[in-house]
Amino acid sequence: MVRTLDSVSRVGVVGAGTMGSGIAQVAATAGYDVVMRDVEQAYIDDGFDTIDDSLDRLVARDALNESDAERARERIVGTTDLADLAGCDLIVEAVVENMDIKQDVFAELDTLVDADVVLGTNTSTLSITRIAAATGTPGRVVGLHFMNPVPVMDGVEVVVGEQTGTGAVDLAHNFAAELDKETWEADDKPGFVTNRILMPWLNEGIRAFDEGVATKEDIDRGMRLGTNVPMGPLELADHVGLDVVLHASETLAEELGDRYRPAYLLRRKVDAGHLGKKSGQGFYEYD
Ligand code: 3HC
Repeated sequence: MVRTLDSVSRVGVVGAGTMGSGIAQVAATAGYDVVMRDVEQAYIDDGFDTIDDSLDRLVARDALNESDAERARERIVGTTDLADLAGCDLIVEAVVENMDIKQDVFAELDTLVDADVVLGTNTSTLSITRIAAATGTPGRVVGLHFMNPVPVMDGVEVVVGEQTGTGAVDLAHNFAAELDKETWEADDKPGFVTNRILMPWLNEGIRAFDEGVATKEDIDRGMRLGTNVPMGPLELADHVGLDVVLHASETLAEELGDRYRPAYLLRRKVDAGHLGKKSGQGFYEYD
């Protein structure tokens, strides 16, 4: 038996990057106390800057009132010590997409938090089952895959591993609903629903650009106007991070074969350190 939503008041978030800080923010905005952990204080400071900026934007457009934003900010505590997550009632991990690192984190969490605390992972393409195998309690490990930018995206993908128990799945859906997000469920297969379908779309946009089908602006414009998506493939790849797209594509290609092979130009951009919005340059340039 795992803890149900009623007994969740403190949420531990492992990782204060784009996704971790976004998850911490939406959990705090929903009224949860949050402990946000990263390995260095500088990453935590960056995470709080991202949260402050996002809360300001929500207040500026009346999506949140100022006192609620202040209260949300006060509910988040930063730490570099994983042991500070010991009293949490639910954990969401959002560290770098590296299986060894995730397994180390889960092995440590497994001994640190109470045995009935659900351990969620925000992995975008890695196997939930393999992450869970690092614990002695795989039944409580579930995929809680948030979308970027977390504070404005409406959906969360719940991913069910080979040994994930129904209690953990139920809590994942209920917790996401409490954050005002809608959910869908995917089996633990490479890329789940979203990235299995999104990654080839992004790579095909990059290939189309590389092969001179159209300018990058017209590829994005064509897909925006032609299919009513908010961003075309090149701008969305920049938004997600070209390193993230490359890593996800490589993982998918390893499991599903050549049709997921990353575009040549994607790898070249990442090799050049052009990672998209976060590095100031990707397919486009950013301030
Ligand atoms: N926090 C708070 N508010 C934010 C925000 C943030 N992080 N980012 C954007 N906003 C707000 C803006 O303030 C703006 O508010 P306004 O409309 O009242 O002015 C509104 O959202 C729209 O923002 P912008 O004007 O800057 O730009 P857009 O209209 O293009 O919206 C977007 C930005 C919400 C990112 C939109 O373009 C979009 O939905 N893009 C698609 C994003 C997407 O597909 N994400 C999923 C990627 S896949 C993924 O995450 C999975 C992973 O595993 C790879």
